[in-house]
Amino acid sequence: MKTRITEMFGIEHPIIQGGMHYVGFAELAAAVSNAGGLGIITGLTQRTPEALAGEIRRCREMTEKPFGVNLTFLPVISQPDYPGYIRAIVEGGVKIVETAGNNPQQWLPALHENGIKVIHKCTSVRHSLKAEKIGCDAVSVDGFECGGHPGEDDVPNFILLPRAAEALRIPFVASGGMADGRSLVAALSLGADGMNMGTRFMATREAPVHENVKQAIVAASELDTRLVMRPLRNTERVLKNGAAERLLEKERSLGAKLKFEDIIEQVAGVYPRVMQEGVIDAGVWSCGMVAGLIHDIPTVQQLIDRIMAEANQIVRERLAGFVAA
Ligand SMILES: Cc1cc2nc3c(=O)[nH]c(=O)nc-3n(C[C@H](O)[C@H](O)[C@H](O)COP(=O)(O)O)c2cc1C
Repeated sequence: MKTRITEMFGIEHPIIQGGMHYVGFAELAAAVSNAGGLGIITGLTQRTPEALAGEIRRCREMTEKPFGVNLTFLPVISQPDYPGYIRAIVEGGVKIVETAGNNPQQWLPALHENGIKVIHKCTSVRHSLKAEKIGCDAVSVDGFECGGHPGEDDVPNFILLPRAAEALRIPFVASGGMADGRSLVAALSLGADGMNMGTRFMATREAPVHENVKQAIVAASELDTRLVMRPLRNTERVLKNGAAERLLEKERSLGAKLKFEDIIEQVAGVYPRVMQEGVIDAGVWSCGMVAGLIHDIPTVQQLIDRIMAEANQIVRERLAGFVAA
């Protein structure tokens, strides 16, 4: 399939694996790229720029195809060494960066001067237009359904994507709630040039996370996510578990007095325990409503082949049949 996104990133299929903390290691990124999509290593999961350089080298040993690195700009006081991470990306020869979180403007010159394309993840049309204005090459439009941080506007993709298509000139991919060939065709119909998936890629054989995490996603329905940290304006969609219930109880009881320190037990240092040790109740962890559409744990190649076959079948048979009638 050829779209502005496949052309821009030099990939076969318009499918991107979004950055995921403690999930986006070289194994998953390489598997997605080898299957014809765009795999992404999560930069900040690597503790130091040197560790990221090593992860990029590992990924290059596993694939000759293009892959990217996610840089999430956090609203925290002690900033990670972003210049160091960018140096590791540039020196590692990576040509695609997915940015997310705060406005990436100050980092764009260093990336663009080195021939790196930037796709910024946005949860609103307003932020997407800003990304276009400051010179991002593409955007990933993340709807209310998404796992992770959906922002505070709560606009689902059925509205957000066509609104983005009306407003944007640069290409964008649909993110949030994407799982299969139906999602891809719908995303293209609504004006996107491809799709980005997070939760779906976690439930694959190559995803380097504990089996308990994969099984929890397969067992979950579309009703099993919760929005936490809304009072802090840092909303995150997570899988419903004991920790999420405890956190929400604190939000209810403390009301406007809630501070980050009150919920630190449920959010800090949680990812390694959940993703690597498989203690799925250790704290809150991102998961999309799309869990309701995830029923198996295929290889990445099987997943992507299935998506493309289904998308082609829908376009050529189901939809073509309607127009012919
Ligand atoms: C476990 C998990 C961790 C994530 N971590 C990050 C992250 O560190 N940085 C980021 O930009 N997005 C992160 N995301 C968001 C994904 O990149 C993607 O935008 C989102 O999962 C899309 O929604 P979906 O899960 O419905 O496919 C994470 C998502 C999940 C499920």
